[in-house]
Amino acid sequence: MLIVGTAVVYRLALGFAEREYDHSLYESAFDIMQLLKKSAEDSGQIHLPNSASDLILADSEDEDFFSITNAQGEAIIGNTRLQPPLVKAKLPNETIYYNSVVDEKPVRVVSVPITLLLLGKPQVLHVQVGETLNKRQHLADQILSSFVVPQIILITLSAMLVLFGIRRGLAPLEKVRDAIAHRSYLDMRPAPTAEVPIEALPLIEEINGLLKRLNTVFEAQKRFTADAAHQLRTPLAGLAAQTDLALGQNNPAPTTHALQQIKTVSRSLNHLIHQLLLLSRSEAAGAHALYDTVNLRELVQEIVLENVPRAAQKNIDLGFEGTDEAITLRGNRQLLQEMLLNLVDNAIRYTPIDGKITVRLDDGSKASLTIEDNGPGIPLEEREQVFERFHRVDRASSIEGTGLGLAIVQQIALAHGATITLTEGQGGQGCLFRVEFPEQYKTLD
Ligand SMILES: Nc1ncnc2c1ncn2[C@@H]1O[C@H](COP(=O)(O)OP(=O)(O)OP(=O)(O)O)[C@@H](O)[C@H]1O
Ligand SMILES: [Mg+2]
Repeated sequence: MLIVGTAVVYRLALGFAEREYDHSLYESAFDIMQLLKKSAEDSGQIHLPNSASDLILADSEDEDFFSITNAQGEAIIGNTRLQPPLVKAKLPNETIYYNSVVDEKPVRVVSVPITLLLLGKPQVLHVQVGETLNKRQHLADQILSSFVVPQIILITLSAMLVLFGIRRGLAPLEKVRDAIAHRSYLDMRPAPTAEVPIEALPLIEEINGLLKRLNTVFEAQKRFTADAAHQLRTPLAGLAAQTDLALGQNNPAPTTHALQQIKTVSRSLNHLIHQLLLLSRSEAAGAHALYDTVNLRELVQEIVLENVPRAAQKNIDLGFEGTDEAITLRGNRQLLQEMLLNLVDNAIRYTPIDGKITVRLDDGSKASLTIEDNGPGIPLEEREQVFERFHRVDRASSIEGTGLGLAIVQQIALAHGATITLTEGQGGQGCLFRVEFPEQYKTLD
């Protein structure tokens, strides 16, 4: 920018000076014209006194030339043959300035037309005065050395100063970079902000915020792995003990019992592993599970039908209520199935014999799915905790479970932008789980 500015100013200064020099060139031509006029008036002929050359040869720096040509371009008088201008004058009386060459030297020339009465006839003559470019070149050099060079020095100095300033300003950031670069990948402490310049502070604070969030996830992951390992260890130890028992028996009766135990533990281990994998899959889905177009009504009816026989074993009345119309939304079909399966499974598992379970699908402004039972319900103070991993309401209860089901349900709801709430059922009895899908995920059939 500064360099362009300097170049423009240089050109302007040169332009002004050129005009001044052109003007004095014209004045020389004018003086000659006065002499010519006088000569024409006095004698009807053109005759220049010797002093004419002196009129223009007053300059010590440059060589000067003049010539007078007639309308046909023939030189009549003069000390050099100056080339006529390459560009023709637009107007008959126009003065033209142009660049030409004399003896291989570049010259600046002015050509001025004059009409004189010679031997009674008007004749158009051209007075051309030229000079070499030495003083113009000197002036250009002077402008260059007195203005452009200091300007360039100034620009260079400013650039160095700015660079120095930037380096100095960025030095604290380099410290932060070094502090982070030499860290272990497990170290999630915030980056130091003490010396960070105020302009860069929001960036470092954002990064620190991200580190904090990462740390939370990291800690949760560590806890989960520890919990999962612990959960797996107990049934595995049971399996080993039962196997030892079976191997140590000659009597078929205890062997059969031990084998039955092994079968039960294997089944619950299998369930635990299924739930663990499902939880990790639903967590991985994050908030991006919206790839399939799912007909929610069809899916809900399918799962209810599939579970009627299981409910019937406890004489539980499992029913479906709600709209006959298709409710379609974008989501992950398999995860949605698992979500509903966990809720229906809980209802069947925790509702005692002769109970009642109703699955309802409402197509209001938002699609909502409710699973209601008339079982023992969940105490108010535990309604938030049951959504945490491995939390079970009554651990002494004989009913088996991993405590992961509702954590999975919540993750899947989250991945679909849905909310899940838990209240008591009708008449303050049992559980009512409601999953409410956001409006925008509903699609037309
Ligand atoms: N419909 C319900 N009625 C009564 N209690 C329930 C109901 N649903 C869940 N609970 C309670 O909430 C706890 C957590 O449920 P969750 O589904 O997360 O785990 P789980 O059923 O124990 O194990 P999993 O579902 O992995 O087999 C259960 O242990 C149970 O005590
Ligand atoms: Mg469950």
